[in-house]
Amino acid sequence: MGDERKVLQVLKGETRFPPPIWMMRQAGRYLPEYRETRKRAGSFLDLCYNPELAVEVTLQPIRRFGFDAAILFSDILVVPHALGRDLRFEEGRGPMMTPMSPRDVEQLNRERFHVNLSPVYETVRELRSRLPRETTLLGFCGAPWTVATYMIAGHGTPDQAPARLFGYRDPEAMKRLLETLAECSAEYLIRQIDAGADAVQVFDSWSGVLDEASFDAYCVAPVAMMVRKVRAVHPQVPIIGFPKGGGSRYDDYREKTGVSALGLDWTVPLAQARRLQGGGAVQGNLDPMRLVAGGAALDMGVDAILEVLGSGPLVFNLGHGITPEAPIENVERMLRRVRGAWR
Ligand code: CP3
Repeated sequence: MGDERKVLQVLKGETRFPPPIWMMRQAGRYLPEYRETRKRAGSFLDLCYNPELAVEVTLQPIRRFGFDAAILFSDILVVPHALGRDLRFEEGRGPMMTPMSPRDVEQLNRERFHVNLSPVYETVRELRSRLPRETTLLGFCGAPWTVATYMIAGHGTPDQAPARLFGYRDPEAMKRLLETLAECSAEYLIRQIDAGADAVQVFDSWSGVLDEASFDAYCVAPVAMMVRKVRAVHPQVPIIGFPKGGGSRYDDYREKTGVSALGLDWTVPLAQARRLQGGGAVQGNLDPMRLVAGGAALDMGVDAILEVLGSGPLVFNLGHGITPEAPIENVERMLRRVRGAWR
């Protein structure tokens, strides 16, 4: 089973050309069918916790474009929500939570964690039975640091200053918070794999704002702990690390954390990406704005990635999520360009 799942094969180190392709945030507001289902669900969180509708929106980009991987539809913030932190998504403002103080760290409640997340596990099980055999199913979670930035500030912030301050003022509380998140998130990934996920991705979207010591303590150490825990149960399942904005810190991230594959943001130079391929698969890294612009900007971006990275293990992807204003025609154009590349 799974022999024909190209994304899975590449994540394990094989080279395929043309490379298999999926897009971060491929189920989302740029699709009219997503907006329609989202309306039916009520709130965004209702959609995340409704297996029938979450399955539907996960399948939408697969039906429309035939991507080689489907990613579970959920959000990274269901983990703190399942630990008892409040969470709501406000139209146009993104996630809102009650900001956390160091004392709140001890109050995180793990008792109902898996019960609260059981709709997500059901979504994964249902997806594996409904997806085409050859489509890789990806599970995911947020990395502890990125999840912590929202828990501490209570909302998205431009520079994650509240979380950086929290760590400097109370390093012990920060350590306990990240350890708790790492343990719970590892269990969360293990359950997703039990339910049928072929591989998993750990999103560290805000790792780019940290100084050297903080990057090691907040990004590398907790993800390394998660990888050890997941591997102890599922040694063969690839884990994609995505330390967005990591810059030169990408160079030893795979070795230090133990992740199988590296998700690259669009600022990573292709020469560096090529070197990173020496250690295993890379995924990325088209600038999502090239997809919005279309035309020559899109074609040149696609071609450059294929030319430099196409001869090694590559999962074609964006360097971050697709944005709501990206035209569907441009997604189709990108797919034709990648899949027609052998001609
Ligand atoms: O990739 C996929 O298609 C799977 C689904 C997915 C979502 N969020 C759905 C979503 C995934 C993998 C995520 C991860 C996520 N969520 C991250 C890490 C990746 C990244 O983008 O950096 C982060 C930081 C979050 C937190 C989050 N969720 C924010 C900041 C927002 C608001 C911003 C926005 O785009 O509105 C969300 C909401 C969200 N998560 C939406 C979707 C489709 C849009 C909400 C809506 O439909 O109203």
